[in-house]
Amino acid sequence: MWGIWSRTVVKVGMAKPCSFVKPCHLVKPVSATRISGRYLTHQKGLPSLPVPPLQQTCERYIAALEPIVETEELKYTKKLVDEFQKAGGDGERLQRALEKRASNTENWLSDWWVQVAYLDYRLPVVVHSSPGLVLPRMNFTDKQGQIRFAAKLIAGVLDFKMMIDNETLPVEFMGGKPLCMNQYYQVLSSCRIPGLKRDSIVNHSRSSSSPKHITVVHNCQFFVLDVYNSDGTLLSVDQLCVQLEHICNSSQQNNSEPVGILTTSDRDTWGRTYQSLIKDKINKDSVSAIQRSIFTLCLDGAMPQVSGDVHRSRSAVQMLHGGGSQWNSANRWFDKTLQFIIGEDGTCGANYEHAPAEGPPIVALIDHVVEYTRRIELGKTPVKSSSMPQKLHFKITPEIKRDIEEAKHKMDILAQDLDMRVVVFEEFGKNVPKTYKMSPDAFIQVALQLAFYRMYQHSCATYESASLRMFRLGRTDTIRSASRASGEFVKVFDNPSKQNTEKVELLEKAVQAHRWYTNMAISGQAIDRHLLGLKMLALEQQITVPPIFTDKSYSKALHYRLSTSQVPSKTDCVMCFGPVVTNGYGVCYNPMDDHINFAVSSFNTCKETDAAAFAQTVKGALLDMRTLLEETPKARL
Ligand code: COA
Repeated sequence: MWGIWSRTVVKVGMAKPCSFVKPCHLVKPVSATRISGRYLTHQKGLPSLPVPPLQQTCERYIAALEPIVETEELKYTKKLVDEFQKAGGDGERLQRALEKRASNTENWLSDWWVQVAYLDYRLPVVVHSSPGLVLPRMNFTDKQGQIRFAAKLIAGVLDFKMMIDNETLPVEFMGGKPLCMNQYYQVLSSCRIPGLKRDSIVNHSRSSSSPKHITVVHNCQFFVLDVYNSDGTLLSVDQLCVQLEHICNSSQQNNSEPVGILTTSDRDTWGRTYQSLIKDKINKDSVSAIQRSIFTLCLDGAMPQVSGDVHRSRSAVQMLHGGGSQWNSANRWFDKTLQFIIGEDGTCGANYEHAPAEGPPIVALIDHVVEYTRRIELGKTPVKSSSMPQKLHFKITPEIKRDIEEAKHKMDILAQDLDMRVVVFEEFGKNVPKTYKMSPDAFIQVALQLAFYRMYQHSCATYESASLRMFRLGRTDTIRSASRASGEFVKVFDNPSKQNTEKVELLEKAVQAHRWYTNMAISGQAIDRHLLGLKMLALEQQITVPPIFTDKSYSKALHYRLSTSQVPSKTDCVMCFGPVVTNGYGVCYNPMDDHINFAVSSFNTCKETDAAAFAQTVKGALLDMRTLLEETPKARL
């Protein structure tokens, strides 16, 4: 049985070491030899990502295409694949080169993946790449409450940071196997930097003078807030409160140029503006302070008043893009790896730049922070700190002013275009599929397939993220949820002439097929990253890219009309992201024991898609699948 993310508290240096990257900033000094020992022990303990056998990937690729391409297209692709994998063919040569790369690198995939999936990607990170995280509405409704909560949140993040720095972070396990913890060391004190053709990431947590400050943004004005006292101790929550009050008081007027909006531009545009922005020394220092900071805290201004379910969807918008230039989109630095966002009305969550990490480590950090904010109380008398926050200044030339205006305009178009719905499916959660001895994740994925089929009468290429963290520096591979089995199930489900027993049998097969694919993906045997690796090698070696990669079926396989991800958490929250293709849906879900949180997105400019309708259809599919199981006694066996 596969249970994920069992967080077992094991201290590093004991039975199961956890830290992978040597952190330099240590709150409690630890000798270099000990850190290095832990680092090496953990490194050695994790297996390397395997290169799957070529023939296996070719067979599985053809099987994966079956539900999503036409018969004639499949026939043609089969020929290309046969040619590719024949003895002495392109496939064999590339496979050998890939195996060689695997034996010479820590992880043959991770650098390529970060480059291709993130740093070379030129669309804005906003909506198109960076996920948002919506927390439950917190218990405050005014500025004072916002500041007090923010102070606790900062303290909670620093408490988590201490576990990273001290290497006492609990190791996570999946199916009993320890996971690579490297991503935890990438999310603090780091930032994406726009480039002209390719971006980069800087991580200052390992520099000799690791950062001691966070950045706070309020009314689109940025401040540096030192979170350590001169004696190296952390500021108390009361001290943080005083600092935040000072920031809010000194930025009540919205009278600065909203320079943060520039980070919402497409990467080429922002890359060009960035070059001219940092020519000025003041700007360069201000940008550097943001990039180096441990994280950014966004104290947001009011958003449009809404209630109930609508509030959740509005919060998702606030977390994902800030609502547009007239609301909070400029109250951000979207290149920053981790931004916590707090509104005056109790809205709370985060936005993170995806290149350094996946959702689960971010959510684990946030689970800790939420728990911390519940525990900690403020003192009665505010305590002064030695230093006060420093405002970051920007010198804005007419050219940069023009770029700001253009960025505002484009952000507003994007904000208008995104339809984001957060819905809670309250009828059941993981409990029901478990009763029927089915994997809850597979059950939900089959429901997504059924919902899509009900709306469009065909299946589509579907992406679900699978963690590769069982391997050193592992990121993700793709679970292709549209399978032959799911295709057979969705076609039969609404056919009244079919018996329930047959439908249940097909449902069970579809769920099993999904779980089989999941197991294969998390053990490094899925097809997508392998094919990507073979293609990357062809490009690197400057040989003609084999025709399987320019084939229509391949582009169909990568056109994910359903881009989905499970991000589980202890807190009753949900992550959200945009669709990855213009006529697609982004679906993120958090299955709790007795309910499921969904965030569904689509683009308004696409007439074929409708996030609200899809969310509703998913709910219907889940309910109908349960009814089928309840009404068919065999399912209770
Ligand atoms: N009968 C009864 N219970 C079952 C079962 C079955 N047949 N199969 C699974 N379960 C139980 C599990 O033990 C687990 O129990 P728990 O709630 O006590 O932990 C629970 O059901 C959930 O299992 P399942 O639904 O199968 O999912 P999973 O937890 O194994 O997760 C993935 C599947 C694909 C989401 C996970 O492997 C993964 O890779 N996650 C990473 C995703 C990611 O990185 N997303 C972020 C992208 S930004």
